[in-house]
Amino acid sequence: MQPRIKAILQMEPSEETVKAEGWVRTKRDSKNVCFLEVNDGSCLKGLQCVIDKGVIPSCVLDRIGTGASVLAEGKIVPSQGGNQKTEMAVTALTLIGECPADYPLQKKRHTVEFLREKAYLRPRTNLFGAVMRVRSSMAYAVHSFFQENGFVYVNTPLISASDCEGAGAQFQVTTLDLENVPKTEDGKVDYSKDFFGKMANLTVSGQLEGETYATAMKNIYTFGPTFRAENSNTARHLAEFWMIEPEMAFCTLEGDMEWAEKFLKYVFSYVLEKNSEDMEFFSKFVLDGVVDTLRHVIESPFAHMTYTDAIKVLEPENDRFEFPVKWGVEIQSEHERFLTEEVAKRPVIVTDYPKDIKAFYMKMNDDGETVRAMDVLAPRLGEIIGGSEREYRYDVLIKRMEELGLKAEDYWWYLDLRKYGTVPHAGFGLGFERAVQYVTGVANIRDVIPYPRYVKSCEY
Ligand code: 4AD
Ligand code: MG
Repeated sequence: MQPRIKAILQMEPSEETVKAEGWVRTKRDSKNVCFLEVNDGSCLKGLQCVIDKGVIPSCVLDRIGTGASVLAEGKIVPSQGGNQKTEMAVTALTLIGECPADYPLQKKRHTVEFLREKAYLRPRTNLFGAVMRVRSSMAYAVHSFFQENGFVYVNTPLISASDCEGAGAQFQVTTLDLENVPKTEDGKVDYSKDFFGKMANLTVSGQLEGETYATAMKNIYTFGPTFRAENSNTARHLAEFWMIEPEMAFCTLEGDMEWAEKFLKYVFSYVLEKNSEDMEFFSKFVLDGVVDTLRHVIESPFAHMTYTDAIKVLEPENDRFEFPVKWGVEIQSEHERFLTEEVAKRPVIVTDYPKDIKAFYMKMNDDGETVRAMDVLAPRLGEIIGGSEREYRYDVLIKRMEELGLKAEDYWWYLDLRKYGTVPHAGFGLGFERAVQYVTGVANIRDVIPYPRYVKSCEY
């Protein structure tokens, strides 16, 4: 195994021969010397390889251009140029894979829109390399946070027969022949002939199954793909995204909010520490000051307000909104941004939303109108976390489901939890890509996941 370029860049000059492998980012020629910058994705910087044209024959050098894969051998020496401390004085060079001139990633800066169309090559750019390293660190931090705090990692199913959010934005999973769908006598689709013998969908959330494990193991979390067939063509919606869903038994909304804040701050701190070079890059080229903003967020407590108070703050500002608010309506991203950017100037946790705009499983407040929901709103993005205390009282839950026209028999196992040793419990879901967007400052969610899926787009 050869050392990664990140490690080579930290080596002191020595007589030892080092081997470096990677892809050529740039090639510069002078009369006697050729410079190759070789990058292997381990860090932003590449290794400057200095090639004496008397040592490596031109028949090899001429075939090496941007994008080619190479193995370079040589000594690490102090660099003559000012851009790096050390460089490699190459003694042997192997061209592994040639890269012809039609390579789409030329030296100039490309737009994210152009790169989205070359999604299979974009990890070779500075921007996407940095985003993917940060995304990977954040995933690691998610696991460390919960593991260090005694949470059990539970893998909830991706194919599900229940609709957690009750929003109907599900992708159906079927093996029925769509050209020749079997029908029952009354003309409906005969799902008994389908693969599972009933209708099935891709999951919109692992929460309901997560609750069954929390009410046995106390604290659990999930971290997996989630699918929503929402017709939302925005910079913060995907049809396939990753969600982290912790669920805590013997826990109310207050505990839920404490966990959410502690969790976000842990993940942000981890990235600032481990990915400082990439974070500086984002601050410089993507969003001015994103590092300072994150530091500020880590250091200050999140603001809290109820939905009712939020409406009181928003209503006098209705003139500036595309969608004016009044009590009972959904808070949209423009309102979320106003609350975080103009009012609180930091993340805000909004609680106690009207029951009619939230899911069936949320605990009803004594007023009979609002539920124990909480959304964490972040400046720039709006909602990044949605959570709640769950309705753990059997009678109240059944009544709420009836009101919403949900059939008890479809949720029989979920209701059983309220029969057998029921307990206050709460949880939340963090949209992983929204968190990556927040940390990196990248404006569009399609640029923080390798292969974005959204309305009318399923490339690669
Ligand atoms: O608010 P949501 O819909 O909550 C739930 O799914 C609950 N079951 C979570 C829980 O309590 N266990 O989604 C949670 C988060 C949102 O705050 C948002 O960050 C993200 O998931 N999210 C999306 N991210 C990208 N694309 C989409 N279409 C998203 N929909 C939700
Ligand atoms: Mg939500």
